[in-house]
Amino acid sequence: MSTPDRVRGGLWVIVPAAGRGSRFGGAVPKQFLEVGGRSVLAHTLDALASHSGIGGIVLVLGADDVPVLPEAALHGKPLVRAPGGDTRAASVLAGLHALPESVRPDDFVLVHDAARPNLHADDLDALLERGRMDPVGAILAAPVRDTLKRAGDDGGIDGTEPRERLWRALTPQLFRRLQLGRALEAADAEGIAVTDEAMAMERQGARPLLVEGREDNFKITTPADFARFEFELSRRS
Ligand code: CTP
Ligand code: MG
Repeated sequence: MSTPDRVRGGLWVIVPAAGRGSRFGGAVPKQFLEVGGRSVLAHTLDALASHSGIGGIVLVLGADDVPVLPEAALHGKPLVRAPGGDTRAASVLAGLHALPESVRPDDFVLVHDAARPNLHADDLDALLERGRMDPVGAILAAPVRDTLKRAGDDGGIDGTEPRERLWRALTPQLFRRLQLGRALEAADAEGIAVTDEAMAMERQGARPLLVEGREDNFKITTPADFARFEFELSRRS
């Protein structure tokens, strides 16, 4: 890699961690729950910071969140905190605004969910390698494997949808700082709720690249997902 990114110490990654975990339930948001001796968030930060391609992290937090971050999880990489917004997109935008000035408008930045702790280095390798070749950027994604049914109002099946070209969007997602900021601002101004970065970019006419990632880079949404991560961790050791 002879890109200027390496010279300036690698890519920055924005980690939105300001959600409340309403589908998960409970008093403590899922990203702060402990598993294997530290929080889900600490596992996520470790997976990112341990990668040689990562130069720094912007951690987006809710107003009252003061998480304990073990030094070891950061691998000596700089961490900047930013206050979150009411939606994931608003939190990512706040994260973009908090990037240091050393990240130039044309530089790629990553966005990765705090609630997605089971990221493996080979996925990040693939995304960086292929995504940085793309003029727009790229996302990790997984092809849909199940047969898809369209439900009627009464819960009966109204039909079967072709799944051949359908993918599930994962994170990290890789875009250029200025373009991503403009795309998220445009969606916000139009009152469109975008659920990932790629959707904001698509709305600008861009066609980000799909990079196939592992099925096990799942997001913790419900307690069953949390149990799955507990199991994955126990398999690692
Ligand atoms: N997130 C955020 N700011 C928000 C909403 C979400 O930073 N206003 C973050 C979450 O903390 C999480 C990631 O975006 O790391 C993915 O969001 P999701 O899984 O939907 O988490 P929550 O919004 O917390 O959960 P729920 O939708 O069930 O309330
Ligand atoms: Mg949410």
